[in-house]
Parts: sequence; structure tokens; C-alpha cells
Amino acid sequence: MRWKMLFKIGLTIIIFVAVYLYYSLNQQKSSTENQPEHLVGDGHDQLHQNDQLKNNEVDLEAVKEKERIERWQKSIHLSVVACGDRGNETIILLKSAVLFTSSYFIAHIFAESELQENMKAQLDFWPEEYKSRMEYRIYDISFPGTKNAEEWKKLFKPCASQRLFLPSLLKDVDSLIYVDTDILFLTPLDDLWSFFVKFNNTQLAAVAPEHEDKATGWYNRFARHPYYGELGVNSGVMLMNLTRLRHTTWLSSMIDYHREYKLKITWGDQDLINIYFHYHPDQLYVFNCEWNFRPDHCMYMSVCRGADRDGAYVLHGSRRVMHNDKQPAFKAVYDAFKNHEFSSTIKYHLIENIKRNMKKVADTNCGRVGHIFVKQIEQFVKKVDDTEQKKINPR
Ligand SMILES: *[C@@H]1O[C@H](CO)[C@@H](O)[C@H](O)[C@H]1NC(C)=O
Ligand SMILES: *[C@@H]1O[C@H](CO)[C@@H](O)[C@H](O)[C@H]1NC(C)=O
Ligand SMILES: *[C@@H]1O[C@H](CO)[C@@H](O)[C@H](O)[C@H]1NC(C)=O
Repeated sequence: MRWKMLFKIGLTIIIFVAVYLYYSLNQQKSSTENQPEHLVGDGHDQLHQNDQLKNNEVDLEAVKEKERIERWQKSIHLSVVACGDRGNETIILLKSAVLFTSSYFIAHIFAESELQENMKAQLDFWPEEYKSRMEYRIYDISFPGTKNAEEWKKLFKPCASQRLFLPSLLKDVDSLIYVDTDILFLTPLDDLWSFFVKFNNTQLAAVAPEHEDKATGWYNRFARHPYYGELGVNSGVMLMNLTRLRHTTWLSSMIDYHREYKLKITWGDQDLINIYFHYHPDQLYVFNCEWNFRPDHCMYMSVCRGADRDGAYVLHGSRRVMHNDKQPAFKAVYDAFKNHEFSSTIKYHLIENIKRNMKKVADTNCGRVGHIFVKQIEQFVKKVDDTEQKKINPR
């Protein structure tokens, strides 16, 4: 009886030990199998794996590069040239662009070296939400292919003539919107960009007229050189198809005109552009004054009919009116943009601030037509609201 018990206990223990050994051995085996191949595999396997890894990296780089090129080609390109004390104004201009534009855009900023660091610091300080809508590049001012760089630099405002060189400076850009620094966008860049589609086969640039009527026109009364059309053009907002410009005599013509007319020109590069399109009128597309709305359009009376009806799309504070008190309606808008925080809204803050500033200057000639300065922003907000509404209530 006792022997039987002892035998049973012994057998149970042996079975337990056997089962334990079997399991633990099995466990060990499977853990070796699960180890990463390169630790157990031979040298050849390892090489093969690395190759594949490298191939994946190359693929990834190629894909990224392809994406970058595609984005570059699809993007809106904007260019501005900043010198002297125009650095901050340029940042406000870019702020107005990024506030309304949801399409990706690339800003090509040509700036004197003294301004570059501060501009970069301000742009990098923008909130991520806005930074991700655009990228910027800052370039030095340069005048390739001319012997007298200094003379070009001094032409009109410092380095304004830089713009004439854009076709040869930005060889990998097809088209761009060039603006002076004293510009504010009141509408998405897409609206301006869409004029490119309207170009016929010979047109390669687009600008607005310098004046609306002969009585106050400058070119028709004072110019001592050829100019475009009846009243000349203003070059502060200019669409340029650089691809097409590169196929013309643009730059060499400019250098010739400069040599011939330099003692007779008053407004620097704008005069040269007028001379060029005087001789090549088939290459120019002319858009209306509401795309380049200046103090001239309201300083005596409101003469830009499109802006009176729809509001201005682009404001151009020429003769420094964004900063001085000569046409305070322009400064009223500029100050509202300058003080606008990215964290506040266009609808409740920007528009209200513009209106409040405008009320204070309602007794000036441009202030009397204050609706011109805010109507497009109101339209923008309405459009955004409508799309939001559709999202909530689709049908
Ligand atoms: C430009 O703006 C910065 C920061 O907003 C300011 O500190 C600086 O004084 C401004 N520069 C000029 C020339 O107005
Ligand atoms: C500029 O002109 C080129 C050559 O005609 C054309 O291929 C290109 O689409 C034009 N760019 C734009 C933005 O219209
Ligand atoms: C394009 O339009 C301009 C301005 O209307 C005109 O002078 C030119 O002849 C047109 N070009 C073509 C190819 O139709």
C-alpha cells in the first residue's frame, strides 16, 4: 500500500519535470527563431538587407523630390524686392497674402543684406498654421550681366530695378506675381493669379493703367519718353510670365532703353517698362484699377469705378501713404493689418479694426469712400462662412 503511494507520487513528479523540460526547451528554440535575421543570418543576408534599406531610402528621396517639384510647379509664386526701411512693410504685405490665401504659395524675397535677418526672424515667428501655407526664400540683390551694377541700383528707389532681372535670376520659376513692398492684398492671391489663364499667345505680363483720365494723367502731360497706351501703366502690381520673358529681348532692351532715356526718366524701372510695352503692346495684358488701387484713385474724387462697385482687391500705398498722413485712409488699413494678431479673427477683429480706423478719417477724400477698403474682405468672410455652412448642412 505504502509502496504504491510512493510510486504514484514519484511518477507524478517525473511527469511534471518532463513536461517542464519539454516546455522550456521549446520556448528557447522559438525565441532563437524570432531573433532578427541579421543576428543569426550570414554575411550575405545582411548585405542584401542593407541594399534593400538603401533602395527604400533612395525611393523615398526620389518621391520627396518629385513631390517638391510638383508643388513648386503648382504653387503660386510671389516676388518682392525690399531695400532701405521697407523690411517691415514687406512682412505686413506677406501677412495680408497668407491671411486670405489657402493655396500654397512661394515667396521670393530679394532684400538688402542688412534686412534679411530681421525679416527671417519675423516670418519664422508666425504660427505653424500660417507657416505651413507658404514657404519663402530670401536672396541678395544682384544684377547679373550688367557692367554698371551701381547705376542700376540707384535707379529710382533703391533696387527697384531688381525686378527687371527676375527672368534671369529665377530660372526655375515659370511665372510670378511681382509687387512693390507698399502693397496689401485684400483678397486671395488666387484671384490675381487667375489672370494668367486669360493671356493670349503673345501676352507675357499684366499691369493696371497708371491713370483713369487724361486730365490728371502724368505720362500724357509730362513724360519725355515713349509710354504704353494713352495714359501709361503702373508697375506696382505686375504679373510676369518669366518663361515667355526669357524668350524675348526684355533685359537687353531695358539696358538699351536705359542708356537712351536715363536723363529723361522720372519713375525709374516703371518708365522703362512703359517704354518696353510702348514698343511691344501685343505682349501686355491690362487689368483694371481695382487690382492696383492707389491714392490717385480717390484723392480728388473716386475715379476707379470697379473699386467703387466691388471694393479694391489690392491696395497700393504709393508715395508712402501707408506711413504718412497724406491719405490717412491707406494708413488706417495698413495699421489694422500691422496690429492684427494671427490668433484673432478676420471677421470680428480685422474688419472691425479697419472700420473703426476708417471712421476717424471719414472726412478725407479717400475716407469718404471707405467701403472700397473693406468690401473685398467682407466678401471673403462671407464666402468662408458659406462654405462652413455647407459643410455643416450639406445639400
Ligand atoms: C520693424 O519691426 C520691428 C519689430 O516689429 C521693430 O522692432 C523695428 O523697430 C521695426 N523697424 C523699423 C525700421 O520700423
Ligand atoms: C507661361 O508661358 C509658358 C510658355 O508659353 C506656358 O507654358 C506657361 O503655362 C505660362 N504660365 C502660366 C502661369 O500661364
Ligand atoms: C493679344 O492681345 C493683345 C492685346 O489685346 C493684342 O495686341 C495681341 O495682338 C493679341 N495677340 C494675339 C496673338 O492675338
